[in-house]
Amino acid sequence: MALSRKASCNSHGQDSSYFLGWQEYEKNPYDQIQNPTGIIQMGLAENQLSFDLLESWLAKNRDAASFKRNGTSFFKELALFQDYHGLPAFKKALADFMAETRRNKVSIDPNKIVLTAGATSANETLMFCLAEPGDAILVPAPYYPGFDRDLKWRTGVEIVPVQCSSCNGFKITTAALEEAYETARILNLEVKAIWITNPSNPLGTTMTQGELNLLIRFITLKQIHLVSDEIYSGTVFSSPEFVSILETLDERKCKNEKVCDRVQVVQSLSKDLGLPGFRVGAIYSSNETVISAATKMSSFGLISSQTQHLLASILSDKTFTRNYISENRKRLKKRHKMLVSGLHGCGISCLESNSGLFCWVDMRHLLHANTFQAEMDLWRRILYEVKLNISPGSSCHCAEPGWFRVCFANISEETLTISITRLKTFLSANYANVSKKTTNSKDCCSRKKWTLQLPFQERGLVE
Ligand SMILES: Cc1ncc(COP(=O)(O)O)c(C=O)c1O
Repeated sequence: MALSRKASCNSHGQDSSYFLGWQEYEKNPYDQIQNPTGIIQMGLAENQLSFDLLESWLAKNRDAASFKRNGTSFFKELALFQDYHGLPAFKKALADFMAETRRNKVSIDPNKIVLTAGATSANETLMFCLAEPGDAILVPAPYYPGFDRDLKWRTGVEIVPVQCSSCNGFKITTAALEEAYETARILNLEVKAIWITNPSNPLGTTMTQGELNLLIRFITLKQIHLVSDEIYSGTVFSSPEFVSILETLDERKCKNEKVCDRVQVVQSLSKDLGLPGFRVGAIYSSNETVISAATKMSSFGLISSQTQHLLASILSDKTFTRNYISENRKRLKKRHKMLVSGLHGCGISCLESNSGLFCWVDMRHLLHANTFQAEMDLWRRILYEVKLNISPGSSCHCAEPGWFRVCFANISEETLTISITRLKTFLSANYANVSKKTTNSKDCCSRKKWTLQLPFQERGLVE
């Protein structure tokens, strides 16, 4: 019996090297005692650095996790709660947490929040609100590989990458935006939005005020939406400070109300609080129609009431959240420094970064040719010989072969040290004569055009 086209089409992205690396890791995971020669997972953007802070809060606040208020159980109240607007106490606490991770430069209104089961759900819900199947969105590349699944798979929307280049540290330029917009026009796709990630996954950088202003000008000119996925806002560990698109709008005094209506923000507690298993995300919007539609859609991915209740208790403890954010930043900074200097000792440099749970690592000098095939060859050797799972730039749709995303916050310091030692041994055995060449501008600008695959053509979803 045939299944639906959606169930049988392959646009989910499960076969990307990003997910294949995870599968290989699952077959042979490193463990200091049980499996010391196993694969070390450095392809997972998880923040495990501050669990002790959450655990000690829970130990001191036992009522919060046991569904009690002043010692009395309200289990039944929670078990029956099913309002898709969410628990008011949680929305208020989340709004304050969002403001805190934005250095209280913006005030966040709980009424503009729609709760979703993680940022995955928030992103897809927004896409359902903003675009039709067969429309396009522009996404600055390199971008988070999960976007191919979250933004395209079930919505039928196409992603046209905005090709950023190492020449200027992968910053967004008007020329790159115009080029992507023109590509969409040639392909007969109507562009509905630009989707940015700030701080960036995979770059680990924050956008400058200049880039944000440029984006606002561009969406005003083209009359399209802007979605800013800001789920790494609490991970900014050194200067420059994080500037949210909400702050940019505030600074522009939101003179043009219509622009404010077209800017939406995505939030999650998966990275800032290290709780991807809790599935907590949100859409923040000033557009009443978006709020209303997304709230109705959120029935398909609600956050359970016990999770909301527990997090309302944790996040309304302001002393705790302030301390958590600042301590977590310090720990990320230390870990980032460890990875950058370890790689430097191997003759490998990283894009200068100030945020996130990963570094964007330049291994172009280790490729046997300036091709994506050579990048995959190197990736395989690092996976099967060095036994490190890192993500090749091509899985993030980077236009230049030789870049890799390497995560540093999901493993212990000891494991990170082992991974650097393994890499050093591998490089001295196999690449002893390869010195780190200083890439000249011709090198970094001679990028290949990313060939845009149109899944709907493959799978015949749109005539
Ligand atoms: C940019 C970005 N958006 C969304 C997600 C998904 O987050 P969540 O676990 O909240 O669904 C991730 C996860 O890595 C991400 O990096």
